[in-house]
Amino acid sequence: MKTILITGGAGFIGANLVRRLLAARPDWRVVNLDALTYAGDLARLKEVEGDARYAFEKVDLSVRAAVAAVFERYPIFAVIHLAAESHVDRSILEPAVFIQSNVLGTQNLIDAARDAKVERFVHVSTDEVYGSLGATGRFRESSPLAPNSPYSASKAGSDLLVRAACHTFGFPAIVTRCSNNYGPWQFPEKLIPLIVCNAIEDKALPVYGDGQQVRDWIHVDDHCDGLLAALERGRCGEVYNLGAECERANLDVVKQVLQILGKREELIQFVADRPGHDRRYAIDPGKAKEELRWAPRHGFEEGLAATVRWYQDHREWVERVRSGSYRAYYDRQYAQRLVRPPEPRGTRP
Ligand code: NAD
Ligand code: DAU
Repeated sequence: MKTILITGGAGFIGANLVRRLLAARPDWRVVNLDALTYAGDLARLKEVEGDARYAFEKVDLSVRAAVAAVFERYPIFAVIHLAAESHVDRSILEPAVFIQSNVLGTQNLIDAARDAKVERFVHVSTDEVYGSLGATGRFRESSPLAPNSPYSASKAGSDLLVRAACHTFGFPAIVTRCSNNYGPWQFPEKLIPLIVCNAIEDKALPVYGDGQQVRDWIHVDDHCDGLLAALERGRCGEVYNLGAECERANLDVVKQVLQILGKREELIQFVADRPGHDRRYAIDPGKAKEELRWAPRHGFEEGLAATVRWYQDHREWVERVRSGSYRAYYDRQYAQRLVRPPEPRGTRP
């Protein structure tokens, strides 16, 4: 039995990966290291709770000794590192925690993994490290790093720490850079779940700026398959871009959600733009497709409709995670930007 460590396994992508690994690799044990920040929730892992091949460790990556202790407790052969502060808007409000978790946390993990002589380390990064594109072109692995937000700068910093460990110590690491994920269990601070959940309740839908910013969408299952392919077939020291070649303007995505739900476009509210907002992301996934023999399988239209249905069916979870600290965040982020949505036409007395 091989033991793999997943960091951030209580988060959106990490929990999906934990469930998929346990199902796809019957001879693997999975240790999930997660600090359970506001974004981490073990409810995402209910179905694997009783599995003898699954263990959870509540550890903050910025606490060095606690990270090292996990490697002493388990014979870990590989790591897939997802734990991070992940939301751009929060990084604009409070950058310091992004440095603590994403930069310092990654260095602590690298050091502990080196000491334990792991065979493989997959560092899960983002296309945002490449900055913003104009109307044409796509990010390749050779594109220069030009992060624009505190979040993307912290991720670029962690990518470079991984690169330095490979170069200096022969650390067996691979970096993946993926585009925007969507799917079930995503925290409703991100565009798609936020819009879906607000629209279900006829609440205002905040669209930043002119809504013509472009994101390149990939289903979370396809991202997780790419991470497993990188772990098993990636070459150490290499970077692999993961994306599904699915560019959409934000406003089009919002309108598509409204169409799926049969809701009115009057819910849309154009609000003050995100400071430093990246205009367009687009990934060239050619290298990953060829070298990792990986390809995304989900179409966006079908995947989005299924995701909308999932949020309709999981209202209780949404209610729970939107209570407490989320309310304070939502008010701080949107209070100045949003007004009450108009009543549906013809319903006023
Ligand atoms: P998420 O916010 O849903 O989950 C992050 C998880 O990390 C949470 O469970 C949280 O508790 C944990 N965490 C945060 N700080 C920690 C710390 N100091 N110590 C231990 N655990 C900590 O994020 P996500 O969307 O699932 O993203 C996971 C990873 O994938 C991140 O590294 C992110 O940069 C990367 N990524 C995300 C996307 C996307 O579209 N969501 C795209 C490309 C790359
Ligand atoms: O590209 C990969 C990145 O995708 C990941 O590294 C990040 O972890 C992930 O959060 C995501 O970053 P974005 O900033 O692109 O995602 P977000 O869902 O926050 O926003 C998507 C787009 O929608 C972006 O152009 C901003 C816009 N937006 C977002 C919110 C929350 C709005 O117009 N209104 C909103 O209320």
